[in-house]
Amino acid sequence: MALVELLLPALPSHVRTARLVVVAAGRRAGLVDGLVDEFRLAVGEACARAVQLHAEHAPDERVRVTVTDDVLGLTVTVTDVGPAAGPAKDPTDLFEGGDPAHGRQVLLAGQCASCHASPGQGDRMRLGGGLALGSPFGTFNVPNISPDPRDGIGSWRGIDLANALMSGVSPDGSHYYPSLPYVAYAHMRPEDLRDLWAYLRTLPPVAGQAPPHDLPFPFTIRRGIGFWKLLFLDRSPIADDPARDAAWNRGRYLVEAQAHCAECHSGRNILYAVKSSQRFAGAPDQEGTGHVPNITPQAIPGWSEDDLVTVLTTGRTPDLRTVGGSMADVVTNMAALPESDRHAIAAYIRSQPARPTPGLSD
Ligand code: HEC
Ligand code: HEC
Repeated sequence: MALVELLLPALPSHVRTARLVVVAAGRRAGLVDGLVDEFRLAVGEACARAVQLHAEHAPDERVRVTVTDDVLGLTVTVTDVGPAAGPAKDPTDLFEGGDPAHGRQVLLAGQCASCHASPGQGDRMRLGGGLALGSPFGTFNVPNISPDPRDGIGSWRGIDLANALMSGVSPDGSHYYPSLPYVAYAHMRPEDLRDLWAYLRTLPPVAGQAPPHDLPFPFTIRRGIGFWKLLFLDRSPIADDPARDAAWNRGRYLVEAQAHCAECHSGRNILYAVKSSQRFAGAPDQEGTGHVPNITPQAIPGWSEDDLVTVLTTGRTPDLRTVGGSMADVVTNMAALPESDRHAIAAYIRSQPARPTPGLSD
């Protein structure tokens, strides 16, 4: 059997996810959605399948790889049959061998259980889904992400989780709604995803699926999300800022890539994207009732780093209130992290510029 190596042409930088269709001997041999960065891996797998077909069915046929971006209609076709290049790399390698103990911390920091734990039972790590999550667009019924092979994600591979969390793309190639906060998770480091994947697989399988989302037209159309992502999904990694200390850099990563504090605490524009001028400056609660407070120094000027750590550990504010609503669950997650992580988060939040609460100022 001949081995081929395909080299993918450079994709335009605005392409965040792409679809790889492998056609060999006139048959559709593989369909892989992938992160652009992971493309070499996805290509490796698709090639392996294509090569197999190639060898089995049509020794003379060339292998064609087509990369399309379904939003822009971009199509890149690569046709090449090169010399033997060694076995294709296993695309799951990158996500094997993770550390489940650390993955548990990623799950806590990322607050997955706040949305995915089955409601009405005490075990936060039974991720059977079913929570009805309100939003300005309708109600999302959070899916089962337990390792159940039929109702959960037990049959997924690590790269499927990476595509879901970092690109908002499902294994069958459709777009997820940004109610799954991939706008934050897109900045997650691959090694954290690998550990998260290792931990998810240790959790109990839970049977049962959530009902479909209850959304009015046109929000039922997932294709439109592709356009939204093009405008608002930034997948660039968060690089450490050498002018800041290690705690601040750790705090920024935890807040922006995992804990997604800005998703609740910021105002949004008409297209539902966070406005940078109102980042952390408070917002109406997306579930419909109440207001999420401004947490920039504008609103909490006298709070020390220790005060913020106390809120994240016990829920108690310096003025002796106890935070409630959706923040209570955030505290449950944060309290289970190492104390140094809570300090890091507090240091980063305190370093934000003071921003006026929209509607209450100017
Ligand atoms: C704010 C609520 C929320 C949080 C937090 C959240 N999710 Fe989700 N998640 C959702 C919703 C809603 C969907 C369904 C999205 C859709 O249908 O487009 C979803 C979908 C998913 C899916 C796809 C499941 C499938 O069957 O296709 C996976 C996997 C997933 N989430 C994993 C995670 C992990 C891991 C975390 C933590 C790092 C997490 N989610 C955090 C709300 C959330
Ligand atoms: C799921 C939405 C949500 C997320 C995510 C979230 N918060 Fe909150 N937060 C709230 C709500 C709602 C309140 C108001 C609670 C109340 O007053 O009872 C709040 C209150 C607070 C307060 C108290 C402010 C005051 O003036 O009383 C602080 C501090 C805070 N959040 C920090 C954070 C940090 C730091 C993160 C990220 C680690 C975060 N929040 C993530 C919803 C959220």
